[in-house]
Amino acid sequence: MTDIAVTLADKRGTLPSDDKLGFGKIFTDHMFVLDYESGRGWYNARIVPYGDFDISPAAMVLHYGQAIFEGMKAFCTEDNRVTMYRPVDHLNRFNNSADILSIPQMDVKLLHAGLKKLIEIDKEWVPKSLGTSLYIRPFVISVDPFVGVKVADQYKLFIILSPVGAYYASGFKPVKIKVEENYVRAVKGGLGEAKTPANYAASLKASEEAKKEGFTQVLWLDALEQKYVEEVGTMNIFFKIDDEIITPELNGSILNGITRRSVIQVAKDWGMKVSERRISIDEVFAAHAEGRLKEVFGSGTAAVISPVGELSWNGKNIVINNNQTGETSQKLFDYITGIQQGRVADKFGWVDE
Ligand code: COI
Repeated sequence: MTDIAVTLADKRGTLPSDDKLGFGKIFTDHMFVLDYESGRGWYNARIVPYGDFDISPAAMVLHYGQAIFEGMKAFCTEDNRVTMYRPVDHLNRFNNSADILSIPQMDVKLLHAGLKKLIEIDKEWVPKSLGTSLYIRPFVISVDPFVGVKVADQYKLFIILSPVGAYYASGFKPVKIKVEENYVRAVKGGLGEAKTPANYAASLKASEEAKKEGFTQVLWLDALEQKYVEEVGTMNIFFKIDDEIITPELNGSILNGITRRSVIQVAKDWGMKVSERRISIDEVFAAHAEGRLKEVFGSGTAAVISPVGELSWNGKNIVINNNQTGETSQKLFDYITGIQQGRVADKFGWVDE
């Protein structure tokens, strides 16, 4: 295994109080860095003080967006151990995103070892109270100084760490969602399955308009027919219709969420009927009209589970479960965050120390 050189920061920062964390605004003292050059591969794995870095104004990522990222979390358990949630699954997905963006494959074992070492060095930054975590952001950018369009020959990989509280300032409460009818997030054969900045850039205008209209986020429909449900905001989506849990099947334009996988596995383990299939927005509204739509919720690393209280589409507004968090949403949230924070036995082997 490649050695990981460590340069420690001269001065250490301090973790702010847990109620001041918010999401993604504070960063720890160190970061992991790796370089790539064609013909040489990934090299120079190192942990260095967190800080700004130089790239050329011509760096390809600034012009053509050849970049990928991941989002994962580490936790401090009640007995003060620091654990990561499904890190290898996240790193494998990172490689899948790399493949979609024509970025060279990375050594998952090296990244995993680098991440463990980085977290060990910055472990004082892992917040302890309920609902907090250390958000881990690995990312790769293409850095060749070149303004022609091509697959890059030089990349930089970083892993930065951010202690976080709840993703939504409003906390674990049902959100109001607008079904997006004008814009689309991703197309089949495009980048939708990758965690790449372009997908998030493509979502901004729709989400800004929805916010101005009083919604928290948008629900994305498929790009071709604007008929089938794909995702909600930056999350995967689930519907509970009667006693069945339904989530859109992975079709190339939907992100293969790690929390999505956890929800599917846990709900099946509980004996619930879980279907991964196409589900149209008509079907969702019809199930509501028949009194069969029990719950709607998003799943993602940042918020874990985000209940949906209202859906607005085609001039109609429906209220789900009286705008209250549903029983299954609450149970899934408690169970998955329980495994993450060591309160619930990790029967699936998702926690890595
Ligand atoms: C998530 O919901 O986990 C996300 O992907 C949000 C992240 C982009 C901040």
